Amino acid sequence: MCGLVGATANRDIIPFLVDGLRSLEYRGYDSAGVATLNGQGLKKERSVGKVEELAKQLASTGMSGTMGIGHTRWATHGRPEENNAHPHVSTELVAVVHNGIIENYETLRRDLQNLGYDFDSQTDTEVIAHRIHQHLQSEDSLLTAIQKTLPELEGSFAIAAISNNEPGRIIAARRGSPLVVGIGTDENFIASDVSALLSETQDFIYLEEGDIADISSHAVTVYNQYGRIAERPIQKSTMTKSAVEKGDYPHFMLKEIYEQSTALRQTLSPYLDNDTLQESRLGDDASHILDGIEQVHICACGTSYHAGVVGSYLLEKLGKRPCRAEHASEFRYRSPVVTPNTLFVVLSQSGETADTLAALRYAKEAGYAATLSICNVASSSLVRETDLTFITQAGPEIGVASTKAFTTQLMAMNILAILLARRSGIDSAEELSLVQSLKQASFAIESALELNSEIKDFAKQLVDVNHCLFLGRGNMYPIAMEGALKLKEISYIHAEAYPGGELKHGPLALIDDDMPIVAVAPNNDLLPKMKANLQEVEARGGKLLIFADKKSDFQPSPNSRILTMPSVDDFLAPILYTVPLQLLSYHVAVFRGTNVDQPRNLAKSVTVE
Ligand code: G6P
Repeated sequence: MCGLVGATANRDIIPFLVDGLRSLEYRGYDSAGVATLNGQGLKKERSVGKVEELAKQLASTGMSGTMGIGHTRWATHGRPEENNAHPHVSTELVAVVHNGIIENYETLRRDLQNLGYDFDSQTDTEVIAHRIHQHLQSEDSLLTAIQKTLPELEGSFAIAAISNNEPGRIIAARRGSPLVVGIGTDENFIASDVSALLSETQDFIYLEEGDIADISSHAVTVYNQYGRIAERPIQKSTMTKSAVEKGDYPHFMLKEIYEQSTALRQTLSPYLDNDTLQESRLGDDASHILDGIEQVHICACGTSYHAGVVGSYLLEKLGKRPCRAEHASEFRYRSPVVTPNTLFVVLSQSGETADTLAALRYAKEAGYAATLSICNVASSSLVRETDLTFITQAGPEIGVASTKAFTTQLMAMNILAILLARRSGIDSAEELSLVQSLKQASFAIESALELNSEIKDFAKQLVDVNHCLFLGRGNMYPIAMEGALKLKEISYIHAEAYPGGELKHGPLALIDDDMPIVAVAPNNDLLPKMKANLQEVEARGGKLLIFADKKSDFQPSPNSRILTMPSVDDFLAPILYTVPLQLLSYHVAVFRGTNVDQPRNLAKSVTVE
């Protein structure tokens, strides 16, 4: 989704703004722009398409300046056109960039039009620029004009604004969308994401809900939502620039698929002390909270939702707690009944997904016993707002299609299941054996990655199809769902997942040459059922790509191809079988020539509802 950057310094900051915007490209966007003050008034350049287009435009105009703001826009209100791209300027005095949505923009727009303001765009953002301008007629500073403007805005936002009357000063504010201030030497920065600032600094102030930051090259002052000066700590990031670069990989997605073995090890290891899981890592009160939990309710979006569904199988099977997983976007609109002693779990890579955050806030009001976030970003809103937190250690995930964040979420779910199982009678020997299995996860992933060239060959079967059906049973059904999501996201092939047993209730009618079936069929209790389901496909001339282990004992046939996976414990199978499906989608997308890391229309972090 949208990304923003800003800098105030004693050097030309245009190259930084462009690089910063390049670092935010992964979030998904359709236009970009910058505005600067350079002693000759407020200047802006905007362009539709990639940051590269903007860079060319800036090079040809020779624009420079010691302070400015920049933005990548993912269209919500108004088409991806230059006049809708940010920054938005009011009467050559104020420029604003904005992430999020202003819900009452129509009313504000009408008011401003009645006051004589002309609008150049269809965006919700332009009202912010004009409103600040209007308040500047009676206020003596950009800061106070913004302090007057913000309470009038409904919705969510992160904004950064500059004024021609106050060169050297950026005012930034957040409500609902993340913002981070980067601290330099005689220069300071603002961005929606640390990855945009790693080339300049490792020192960051993470703004909190309702904060306004007054930023100049030599000072940063933060005001809280009540307008009082707030002490916000400067935190050193351990993230390096190389962690957000592709290195030798052709795509971030491939790099991130290959990082999964390390990511899983790093996610598990903080929880282990001599092979015993340490539940206190979830929070000081974890033991007390988990002791009282009788049910679990999981909410998440996209890939994280699929990890939640796998989790629901695990928590019931091992943890012996009734558990359900649902889409965060549905949850708060269906008047959910809250059962007593229920843990509300949210999963998210970013920790900023609007629907997941809104579901959490709803749940906190609704009377759940406690909340737990499983999240990859320690500084995120979700983590800050839950009682217990499990930080997955996937590292920055740049590819829009989530990979390593998913498998580390599965690891977290396994750990949570064991912690609940402790309370439902598993003995220490059983617990130890499950922990030993978890320790094997990284090795299992490595052996799955060795199948890459075979999987690439498999992928050729899907390059020219328009549809594809994924099948799984039990805890492999959500893995099939995730496989289908990966394929549709990055290759634009229509893909759906079904539990094998549902095939004859509808999808069997679709089987033809243009509807191959991808099946995940490890040797487990449901294998005989799955085999019967696949025979129903074969009997009707359907083409099958089957991922199974040796013990599954599938026999090749003219219509089916089998990829033999390493054999693992049922408990680890969801993590392991995710990897070939990720690689399959990746190779299909590369063969089809789509934009693997930034698929059309999609965004990495969906901060609007
Ligand atoms: C977007 C991304 C998906 C992601 C989903 C949830 O749709 O493109 O990859 O799974 O948001 O994001 P979260 O950060 O909450 O896991």
